[in-house]
Amino acid sequence: MGAKSASAKKRRCDLEASVSKPHPAATPLCALRSSGLSGRLRPPGDKSVSHRSLILGLLCVGETTIEGLLEGDDVLHTASACRQLGATVTRRGEGNWSVFGAGLGSLLSPRETLDFGNAGTGSRLMMGVVGGHAITARFDGDASLRKRPMRRILDPLLLQGARVLEEQKGGRFPILLQGTSEPLPIEYTTPVASAQIKSAVLFAGLNSPGRTVVIELEASRDHTEKMLTHFGAELKVEPHGPHGRKITLEGRPELRAQKVRVPADPSSAAFPLAAALIVEGSDIVVEGVMTNPLRSGLLTTLLEMGADLSLENRRVEGGEEVADIRARYSPGLRGVEVPPQRAPSMIDEYPILAVVAAFASGETRMRGLSELRVKESDRLNAIAAGLEANGVDCAIEGDDLFMRGGAVAGGGHVETHLDHRIAMSFLVMGLAARKGVTVDDQAMIATSFPSFRALMESLGARFA
Ligand code: S3P
Repeated sequence: MGAKSASAKKRRCDLEASVSKPHPAATPLCALRSSGLSGRLRPPGDKSVSHRSLILGLLCVGETTIEGLLEGDDVLHTASACRQLGATVTRRGEGNWSVFGAGLGSLLSPRETLDFGNAGTGSRLMMGVVGGHAITARFDGDASLRKRPMRRILDPLLLQGARVLEEQKGGRFPILLQGTSEPLPIEYTTPVASAQIKSAVLFAGLNSPGRTVVIELEASRDHTEKMLTHFGAELKVEPHGPHGRKITLEGRPELRAQKVRVPADPSSAAFPLAAALIVEGSDIVVEGVMTNPLRSGLLTTLLEMGADLSLENRRVEGGEEVADIRARYSPGLRGVEVPPQRAPSMIDEYPILAVVAAFASGETRMRGLSELRVKESDRLNAIAAGLEANGVDCAIEGDDLFMRGGAVAGGGHVETHLDHRIAMSFLVMGLAARKGVTVDDQAMIATSFPSFRALMESLGARFA
């Protein structure tokens, strides 16, 4: 750290080459230094569970009802894709949705392209669904999604019998995928810990006449496994090695339409919680947050840093553990070392962790972040560029991020690269930084947390 300029220049070049500029109608937003955030809020429904509840609804005959669905752009794209594949999807009221599915084995080939916008999860899970049916579909998305690697999904689907009729260089969107009516039962070890890869293979395997086995060497979020079981599939989950899991799915289950209650998204809850820790005089409660251990790496890390966080009213809702989380201003935060094994349980939370660590005393080291390079943006570079723009000393070495915290000057202009989590994280930084922080585009926040600004303002956050 310290020798910033050469690495910063290189990083800016990498970013310019690898990710898109904000779209022409980009709308900047500035977060101003605030004080004393207070109150209670419930963030919107979990994005992972929301995508899966629509998709499982599509695969059942009969009515699946969903309470608390995240009505963010990503999930709305998945809802449209479900309609295009034969489901009747209806919004009954705020967060309350109904899906009359087409049924496993009875999906329709869509006439139009399945446009997933910014949504990596929706598109990758749906590629699994299409790959296991005798239908053909074209997948596409925005400039960010078109840059994301899909080979990791196509590779196992090809083994299962799907065919790629068209793809862009390096297995990128637009992709024309032809599925198969008889997916081969395969045993597949995922090359990286990724719930998206695991889920795509399992969704394709649903229509297989045999057993599909997925092995992961590090456990990733398990919503697909839990929800498949809830919808009537026969699934065995066993430990595999020190940190991994082996999942065995019996093909062609009798899926039954269900009621789904979506818990609040811990990845969205992370923003108000982090804001309360770093904004002087804050004391807030975030309600109904999912505390699934495979999603809780950020909480573990914040507690290690000395955050004043407490989990209250722990309960089970819709098959997931949830709690109300109280967060209070924590002036004594200390830098920590975050081990690489923790990455799957907090993969979406590194941008906001970096923001909290910027206010902690001493050095924070986050190790094993290679997967951050293939998110909605190259998040590793985008985080470092945002930190540097606001006067925070940091360095990337290989796949690790090192940074030194303290008082944050702020005043920076942060490029969001069509990445909602980069936008929200640096806006949270602006609430506590001396000179505030501006992000170049707030539009993408609507992909996962459309009420972000209103909820933060209800706590006392200031934006301009
Ligand atoms: C998700 C899995 C994660 C995560 C994404 C949601 C999911 O991706 O980053 O936001 O719902 O399965 P990977 O599993 O590919 O890391």
